[in-house]
Amino acid sequence: MKITVIGLGYLGATHAVAMAELGHEVIGIEPDDKKRSALESGKLPFFEPGLDKALVDVIEKGRITFKADHDENSKNAELHFICVGTPQKQGSNAADTKYLFAAIESLAPYLSEDAVVVGKSTVPVGTAAELKKALSEKTDFDPKLAWNPEFLREGTALEDSLRPDRIVIGTEDSFAEAKIREVYKPITDAEETPVLITDIPTAELVKAAANSFLATKISFINAMAEIAEVSGADTVKLAEAIGMDDRIGKLFLRNGIGFGGGCLPKDIRGLMARAEELGVGHAVGFLEEVDQINLRRRKRVVELAQAELGELKNKKIAILGATFKPDSDDLRDSPALDIALELERLGAIVFVHDPVAVPHLKENQKTLNADENLETVLEDAELTILGTEWRQYKNLDPSKLSVANKTIIDGRNVLDRNAWEAAGWKMIALGRG
Ligand SMILES: NC(=O)c1ccc[n+]([C@@H]2O[C@H](COP(=O)([O-])OP(=O)(O)OC[C@H]3O[C@@H](n4cnc5c(N)ncnc54)[C@H](O)[C@@H]3O)[C@@H](O)[C@H]2O)c1
Repeated sequence: MKITVIGLGYLGATHAVAMAELGHEVIGIEPDDKKRSALESGKLPFFEPGLDKALVDVIEKGRITFKADHDENSKNAELHFICVGTPQKQGSNAADTKYLFAAIESLAPYLSEDAVVVGKSTVPVGTAAELKKALSEKTDFDPKLAWNPEFLREGTALEDSLRPDRIVIGTEDSFAEAKIREVYKPITDAEETPVLITDIPTAELVKAAANSFLATKISFINAMAEIAEVSGADTVKLAEAIGMDDRIGKLFLRNGIGFGGGCLPKDIRGLMARAEELGVGHAVGFLEEVDQINLRRRKRVVELAQAELGELKNKKIAILGATFKPDSDDLRDSPALDIALELERLGAIVFVHDPVAVPHLKENQKTLNADENLETVLEDAELTILGTEWRQYKNLDPSKLSVANKTIIDGRNVLDRNAWEAAGWKMIALGRG
């Protein structure tokens, strides 16, 4: 099928490449010149394992082209996937939907009557109806618009796109449903992936609901960590014990410095704001606490650093990891980076190591000392903080690390406490008495 993918960030670039891998002819629309020219030359503008190779592959097969805007070619596309960002609005909890409306406006002149617009971005429930209205005002036919939320996770994005747990299609139009089923047929045939057909508001709400549930699970165990810290209990053991109950499950139940990134924080806030607009803010009032518990974990690490070092001024602190999770270079609302910046604000000399994000840090966080060399970051450190659970940190040999003072805060509860203590380190772990 011929399709366009509009907005080539983490979601759109992955979706575009995945669709081309399935054999579709993809036109990728990305107005950002830097991102688009990187993609054109077979380079990803961000780090995502495996996606770079797949991008080169589909370029070589001639299945993907990149454009700054639509042209006559878009008129032949059967599906237009909208993958633009929906960040948190400045000064508000609400999601900013302006990029969606801009995308619709540029698409309208090139939309043919039998093409389907498919939203993939995470949106406040009710957005699709407004987008359809905006589109109807610019076309002389009744445009078809469906919602197909995306569940990919950074770090395993291509795999998640090609082998999703489920495909949710929000539409009440049988033609649109058939077209979307057709585009995913290679996946559903090969993997027997369940396809859920819903109305549009349900499809819009699915993603916000899923992310709110996951955020709640993380904050739940972090709330238990707060209790454990004053009662001598061990949250890691506690999580193991409750996670063995199938109704609870062990995933997303590791306590630490909490969630971040370009999705969970803004999605719980966006849901709170939308529920408020709809007059049912009380229904998700608990998400405010989920957010606060999460942010308190970052403060807790700063307090632990102060308890350990006293006055932070001119003390060297090494932070291992800056991204919000491993296998991604995404620094959006990263707990590790947030902690680094706060420690720096309090006068500490902060050195940050990260396996992939150092170039981004050097460009965007000029005051931080970001370095690709782990020895340089650790050298003379009076405190070390593990902020992101990159595999290489989990595999560190603590007896081979040279620092001024062997104290580490394990912000992710992933280090082998016995091994580190045996190597002479003092380990401070969150939520472990
Ligand atoms: N990142 C994820 O893991 C993930 C997973 C599932 C869903 N989502 C959702 O997908 C959406 C996009 O997220 P992202 O992380 O890819 O964001 P992003 O900021 O990385 O990418 C958005 C892209 O859209 C482009 N864009 C903006 N306006 C445009 C326009 N008018 N026309 C064409 N392109 C335009 C931007 O230049 C940018 O490259 C969000 O709603 C997010 O919540 C993200």
